Amino acid sequence: MEIARTLAQLGAAREALTTAGRRGLALVPTMGALHAGHLSLLRAAQSEDYAVVASIFVNPTQFGPGEDFARYPRDEAHDCAMLAQAGCDLVWLPDVGTMYPPGDATVIEVGGPALGWEGAVRPGHFRGVATVVAKLFGQVQPDAACFGEKDWQQVQVIRRMTEDLALPVRIMAVPTWREASGLAMSSRNRYLDAGERVKASALFAVLSRARDAIRAGELVAASVATGGAALAAAGFAVDYLALVDAQTLAPLDRVVGEARLITAARLGTTRLLDNVAI
Ligand code: PAF
Repeated sequence: MEIARTLAQLGAAREALTTAGRRGLALVPTMGALHAGHLSLLRAAQSEDYAVVASIFVNPTQFGPGEDFARYPRDEAHDCAMLAQAGCDLVWLPDVGTMYPPGDATVIEVGGPALGWEGAVRPGHFRGVATVVAKLFGQVQPDAACFGEKDWQQVQVIRRMTEDLALPVRIMAVPTWREASGLAMSSRNRYLDAGERVKASALFAVLSRARDAIRAGELVAASVATGGAALAAAGFAVDYLALVDAQTLAPLDRVVGEARLITAARLGTTRLLDNVAI
């Protein structure tokens, strides 16, 4: 597995990477602190015959003031060992100056699916995500890029941006990888203490119950109210629990077309996200 830390190294490694007989190159963008969910993104790309470039960059612009940028887990050696083991072809490890060079003056502002939910709770978050992803696309020039459905809204924001800017990258959304308890895998799960980890499984259980109730014909407002109360009883502070249009993220009061039940809730100081298809 090659490791590139500068644009020159990336260019050379990308050139040397043989995609002959393969479908092309897929990017797996990450912020490191890798877990089985990230490896499932890698496998999704490999199973479709792509050579894989994984990027690791804890992107400062997608964190708000007072968020966990400083304490976000960083373990480059362990991450690289996991990627090598998983058959990753190339790791892209840019520094802040490479991603945001002196004089940097361009951002990507996405409206539409970026406006509510995470966009409302974390102002500027999706501007940071869209900007860094656009930069990674420009640097790596992948044919495809893989994102986890755990961050459902992020996937829709990136799809919107890719379509609007006519970027020649196929966006692959990969199903959420879960622990045996149902907890969606996330680098931030490392913040949970043992007691919180047990409580955290309530998030997926509550989502699943609300999904089943909605599918069985219960009013969306009633299912969401019951779910919110159950999360509060389990010790969560709920930022939102809502039924939305799967692509636009517009709120829905009944199921029309493709709908998604999305939630974000805090357990102690840890913010957890999850979602299910209806
Ligand atoms: O999902 C993430 O880890 C990040 O938001 C991403 C897509 C790597 C951009 O920094």
